[in-house]
Amino acid sequence: MSRVRVAVLVSGGGTNLQALIDAAARGQLPHVELALVLSNHKNAFALQRAALAGIPTRVVTRRAAGSQEAFEAAIQTALEQAGIELIVLAGFMSILSAGFTDRWPECILNIHPSLLPAFGGPGCYGLHVHEMALARGVKLTGATVHFVNEIPDGGRILAQKAVAVEDGDTPELLQRRVMEQAEWILLPQTLERVAAERTMEREKSDV
Ligand code: GRF
Repeated sequence: MSRVRVAVLVSGGGTNLQALIDAAARGQLPHVELALVLSNHKNAFALQRAALAGIPTRVVTRRAAGSQEAFEAAIQTALEQAGIELIVLAGFMSILSAGFTDRWPECILNIHPSLLPAFGGPGCYGLHVHEMALARGVKLTGATVHFVNEIPDGGRILAQKAVAVEDGDTPELLQRRVMEQAEWILLPQTLERVAAERTMEREKSDV
């Protein structure tokens, strides 16, 4: 069966990357080949997770590149060299410009820790998202997987999973619950679905 070559872009701990690695090891990503993990921080723990799983890694930093344009060009080159077809942003803490996203229409997936469009957009990342949800008093939050375009958190929504907010929640507790009950399940499932669709389209166009 043909697989889609996927790059996972990371910046930090990489628990979502781990969820993908574990799903692949369980045979739950039959249409996915995790072909590259690219980090914009050389010390990201996600790089160790990738190395342990035998996935090639690259580090591309904004500082070394010198400008956003050069940074994105270096990412593009790394992706092309690895023959990448789909990109997953899994805790990638850098906003990509239209110059980059326009080259990958409906080919970049992002996992966001809220039910978009709530708590999305510029400044809505990491623990802040859960702080905002608690401050607003929502009783349900969750995670969203969406395609990435030039609007932060604005691309087409692919899948969502709701998670209950509980009395006494702190941002940290809520973040952990959203990861365990939503992100780590939703991201592998959605990636597999998109990759399966892509292989079907490829097979049709090969006929
Ligand atoms: C996750 O909460 C994800 O939704 C957000 O960034 C965080 C990354 O965590 N985009 P990890 O690096 O996957 O552990």
